Amino acid sequence: MSVEKSLLRFLTCGSVDDGKSTLIGRMLYDGGLVLDDHLAALAADSRKHGTTGDSLDFALLVDGLQAEREQGITIDVAYRYFSTPKRKFIVADTPGHEQYTRNMATGASVSDLAVVLVDAGKGILTQTRRHVAIIGLMGVGHVVLAVNKMDLAEFSEARFHEISADFRETAKRHGIENLTAVPVVARDGDNLVGKSSRMPWYEGPTLLDHLEAVEISSSAASSMRLPVQWVSRPNREFRGYCGTIAGGSIGRGDGVRVLPSGRTSTVKRVLVGDRDVERAVAGEAITVLLADELDISRGDVIAAPDTALRVADQLAAHIVWMSEQPLLPGRPYLVKCGTQTVGATISSIKHKVGIDSAEDVAARRLETNDIASCNLSLSRPIVFEPFADCQTLGSFILIDKMTFATVGAGLVDFELRRANNIHWQSLEVSKAARASAKSQKPCCLWFTGLSGSGKSTIANLIDKRLMSLGHHTYLLDGDNVRHGLNRDLGFTDEDRVENIRRVAEVARLMVDAGLVVLVSFISPFRAERRMARELFEDGEFIEVFVDTPLDVCEARDPKGLYRKARAGQLANFTGIDSAYEAPEHAEVRLDGRVVSAEDLAGQLMNELQVRRLV
Ligand code: ADX
Repeated sequence: MSVEKSLLRFLTCGSVDDGKSTLIGRMLYDGGLVLDDHLAALAADSRKHGTTGDSLDFALLVDGLQAEREQGITIDVAYRYFSTPKRKFIVADTPGHEQYTRNMATGASVSDLAVVLVDAGKGILTQTRRHVAIIGLMGVGHVVLAVNKMDLAEFSEARFHEISADFRETAKRHGIENLTAVPVVARDGDNLVGKSSRMPWYEGPTLLDHLEAVEISSSAASSMRLPVQWVSRPNREFRGYCGTIAGGSIGRGDGVRVLPSGRTSTVKRVLVGDRDVERAVAGEAITVLLADELDISRGDVIAAPDTALRVADQLAAHIVWMSEQPLLPGRPYLVKCGTQTVGATISSIKHKVGIDSAEDVAARRLETNDIASCNLSLSRPIVFEPFADCQTLGSFILIDKMTFATVGAGLVDFELRRANNIHWQSLEVSKAARASAKSQKPCCLWFTGLSGSGKSTIANLIDKRLMSLGHHTYLLDGDNVRHGLNRDLGFTDEDRVENIRRVAEVARLMVDAGLVVLVSFISPFRAERRMARELFEDGEFIEVFVDTPLDVCEARDPKGLYRKARAGQLANFTGIDSAYEAPEHAEVRLDGRVVSAEDLAGQLMNELQVRRLV
């Protein structure tokens, strides 16, 4: 029986002109190697042979790609496959232009080794350092520094050592221990396959020698975990849980624990396709049948009985931000971790990872390509593991709730203890009881519109009319709440997000107390109005768009603020130099150009009557 060749997955990275494609192309050419771009063939091949050493752990890659595909986004990563007599290789080639972090992170998440190209003439650039940070973060254990274009540096040994020393320091800072530096001229093939006669001072291995010889310890988690992708129920008798094994192996008769419920059972059958097997290993897509009828659904994880997997809704994580829109704490996103998708907000940014210096940087928002340590708050608990223990359940992507675009990638560091120490206290007097004591249907009337649009005037009139009809109400007005609860907030985007988050939570408490609550805030962003809406039950949240064009508000200018903003004395003014995102599906739209606020209030009262709220 022939010994299976091992597989090395690596990625190349570097700036645009550093010569990544040249390097790979030239290495293949010099080595007389065949390039096979059919990954499918490789996958079939590895399944056939299926030993742990060379099994393709494509779970992450495939998951990532699928998520992206569902969202209609293509990732710019080219995967190539080639082999030498000693080893098989998959190389992820990621472009070096500005929007690279998404591609870099995707490539790095499935790689054992990274080849970082640095131009000998230019030395180490900020972008190189950022690449190293991502490589470290993604747990790529081995790095090769290829100092390219040595011909332009007159094959100088001193220059090579200077760059290597600088690089080594950066790598160390990001937790990379295994580093090999090779001086090369990619275009001419120096030190790629054959030793360069032009750099006799270099005594280390050529790039290909190193790639063939480097020992990669398998970091694949050994304890069994199977994130359930879907439940197969073709008939009453059959209930199979389908998914790809993310670690360890599973066989007939094994005991299992299901998370988050913690219930236990025994494996009755394991199927690969429609074939029963004795045992299946990490990377295989299987269907499992259990001895007991447990309530298991997509997102649950079937694990070994002594699993170290954890369940929490508050996490500390590192995030690589990829979107052009900034990440704002408090803004709602989706987190997809394994097969679980939950709502999430960044509750705080602890610090940004310093790229050019060793120092951490304080930040209130994240911009494209930033890397930061953050706390996350999830809408419900997820099953996870620290990234160091398991890549599949230790990493996640962040998704924009409106566009479903992938906006970031994250790695779980640990759970926050507060997650386990704060419980929900159930109250004996229910919301329904509180409402019926007031003989009303509690709800939230959410007024949004530009400053000066007439929101507060209309809200005041409605408040008075509801009171006179015997309703119990309260009016939360932006200007007033900003004098107390939100006194610490200004008008930057991040402060407005927090302003709305707080007032939405207060409004929810008031609705819980049985009140009809009127909220009159500019609330300029769709994402936060939507977050507010999601705090309420169906029919409880009425978005009232007071649609008054900017020129009309500006002509009215009741507080003289537009004048100040135009004169440059007031920054971040909504409609002038801060965005207002008009609602697309408000329950009620009032045409604010109508002169009489009384008329508009009348219109709104009619709407409320139609909805049987008054
Ligand atoms: S929001 O955007 O965060 O929802 P909010 O409704 O609380 O704003 O406060 C808006 C009120 O603050 C305006 O009606 C106006 O009186 C005042 N204000 C002061 N500075 C600004 C500004 N830069 N942009 C908008 N409103 C401002």
